[in-house]
Amino acid sequence: MAHVVFVTRPLPDPGIELLARMGFEVRANNEDRPLSREELIAGVQGSDALLCMLSDRIDAEVLDAVPSLRVISNYAVGFDNIDVASARQRGIEVTTTPGVLTDATADLAWALLLSATRNLGAGERMVRAGEWTGWAPTQLLGEPIRNQTLGIVGMGAIGQAVARRAQGFDMQIVYFNRNRVAPEIETALGAEFVPLDDLLKRSDFISLHAPLNEQSRHMFDSRAFSLMKPSSVLVNTGRGALIDEAELVNVLRDRRIAAAGLDVYEFEPTITEGLLSLDNVVLAPHLGSASTLARGDMVRLCCENIAEVLAGRPAVTPAPG
Ligand code: DGY
Repeated sequence: MAHVVFVTRPLPDPGIELLARMGFEVRANNEDRPLSREELIAGVQGSDALLCMLSDRIDAEVLDAVPSLRVISNYAVGFDNIDVASARQRGIEVTTTPGVLTDATADLAWALLLSATRNLGAGERMVRAGEWTGWAPTQLLGEPIRNQTLGIVGMGAIGQAVARRAQGFDMQIVYFNRNRVAPEIETALGAEFVPLDDLLKRSDFISLHAPLNEQSRHMFDSRAFSLMKPSSVLVNTGRGALIDEAELVNVLRDRRIAAAGLDVYEFEPTITEGLLSLDNVVLAPHLGSASTLARGDMVRLCCENIAEVLAGRPAVTPAPG
């Protein structure tokens, strides 16, 4: 009998057809919206594998409701939506999609950094509102990027890809990571490992790429903001809750930092009150991995992980930990 895979949301090419071609019985939510908890638990009943999204919370309640599950394949590199320890206690493997979305996410981090620094959001709003009356010497002046210091928080694959792109802007790079990266990587990137407080004090731009967990939640709180330069720009393509967003609204409003570029939100998809009315923040709708190449490769990697685990082999990309 074919193994059953439940997919919680329509996927881009090669889509769920790939799972069917691999010989699985595919059950799927065909509506392009997140499932409610009840729908998720009902839908996944009797499945061997679950292919889920970062918006699906997979905790002990879900795991207990589906004793048949052997693998959870998360369509994301971040996996804070899954209680990995509880899954593994039950013998369920959890997999993610590292590598394939590195470039797409690093590109988006740079798009936000450039947009926030050069007032692209405010400029676009002005043009669309019909309020632009023409070129002006004092209009929407931004700050330079070349020769400035970029602080990278989380020096995994995406942080490193962001650092590589910074070399084109002749930037100094400082980074903070749970573990120092290999000396040859530091040398290739020209990156200096520093304590977080030093990074906060020295950086003109800060880009967040750390995983979200109990240690990193609200890493950017009032204390962290108080150490940052008033001219600095903060970019978040990691996870929203790395930042205390209520406090971010205060510091952006009071210009205690210059600007921010956000792709992810603490209460996604709800936007924290106050952010929408600020002109010095660029807001993207969680597009980090949203390139056709990355999203297609994420499908392939999710399916490969399912196939390997259900065949009794090790996952290709198990969730770390
Ligand atoms: C991820 O993979 O964790 C990204 O946030 C998805 O875009």
